[in-house]
Amino acid sequence: MGYRIVVVGATGNVGHEMLNILAEREFPVDEIAALASRKSLGTEVSFGDRTLKTTDLDTFDFTGWDMALFAVGSEATQKYAPKAAAAGCVVIDNSSLYRYDADVPLIVPEVNPQAVHGYAKKNIIANPNCSTAQMVVALKPLHDRATIKRVVVSTYQSVSGAGKEGMDELWDQTKSIYNPTDSKPPTKFTKQIAFNVIPHIDVFLDSGETKEEWKMVAETKKILDPKVKVTATCVRVPVFVGHSESINIEFENPLDADEARDILRESPGIMVIDKREDGGYVTPIECVGDYATFISRIRDDSTIENGINLWCVSDNLRKGAALNAVQIAELLGRECLKKG
Ligand SMILES: NC(=O)c1ccc[n+]([C@@H]2O[C@H](COP(=O)([O-])OP(=O)(O)OC[C@H]3O[C@@H](n4cnc5c(N)ncnc54)[C@H](OP(=O)(O)O)[C@@H]3O)[C@@H](O)[C@H]2O)c1
Repeated sequence: MGYRIVVVGATGNVGHEMLNILAEREFPVDEIAALASRKSLGTEVSFGDRTLKTTDLDTFDFTGWDMALFAVGSEATQKYAPKAAAAGCVVIDNSSLYRYDADVPLIVPEVNPQAVHGYAKKNIIANPNCSTAQMVVALKPLHDRATIKRVVVSTYQSVSGAGKEGMDELWDQTKSIYNPTDSKPPTKFTKQIAFNVIPHIDVFLDSGETKEEWKMVAETKKILDPKVKVTATCVRVPVFVGHSESINIEFENPLDADEARDILRESPGIMVIDKREDGGYVTPIECVGDYATFISRIRDDSTIENGINLWCVSDNLRKGAALNAVQIAELLGRECLKKG
């Protein structure tokens, strides 16, 4: 016996990957509904070898459905997630709306699977920001071994992190470089993204940091350990899919690069590709479509007592969103909503 699953935002980047991953991982599905906005009514989306027609979120009745994987942005989530939860359908949400709510668990299954039991307070579980998800997968086993004091991270985030419109803007601007008569001013990003980088993701806060940077700090504390200090600089780069991060980690206890490499090699969700030679590391284009968080360039930081640097790359639509959401659904099924 399987589950009755709803994918909300099925025509979007993350929703599309959710359907792919549910099929790839043979999630036990008895029935599946693909929802989007009214303008997409009847749009066909793939689920394994089946084709589903999307229906309208606004008129959907969640009664009798087990889990709803939401990927629609905060505004629509605010309107519809409480309705789904009140109807007894557990929401696994990709927006940032519930991530900092004390009554909603924020889960990366490799890091804090035990938090799943808190789902029943609101019938909602939150999925972290894409940059946080891959980083905490890398940090967790190192924290367990040597206790992390401080993390300094710089991100190189792909345009798909800004949804379909972000990908379209990079594509259109790239074409218009060669055909300037087609050129349009940026609308999704604040400056030209093609052949450029932009040190600004989400809104500015009074502190001078951006909301994306604040999210990495707040979410790492909630998922991994409130005592870990994090400072982040988040940058948008002209890459379609795949987020990269340069991470500097300072530990309480001794841990060198060789031991860190051995620990990471044995850790769940991680693939270490770290040859100290030309091309012996992973770039974002190579991680697309993969489940793993890839770690390369592990090396000692000689400027602090116990510190290392590493390079961390993952598919932001997968581990950063859809894969993590499906892993939460698997965890929820295994631990809390057993069937058959
Ligand atoms: N992309 C990432 O790396 C990433 C990572 C983590 C979290 N997230 C989060 O995941 C969510 C989705 O992101 P995305 O990248 O998939 O965005 P996207 O490609 O722009 O897709 C948005 C989806 O939401 C649907 N939608 C929007 N407003 C709606 C409404 N009022 N009613 C019904 N459906 C509505 C759209 O349907 P229509 O096609 O009908 O408009 C579409 O299916 C966002 O909250 C985002 O912050 C994204």
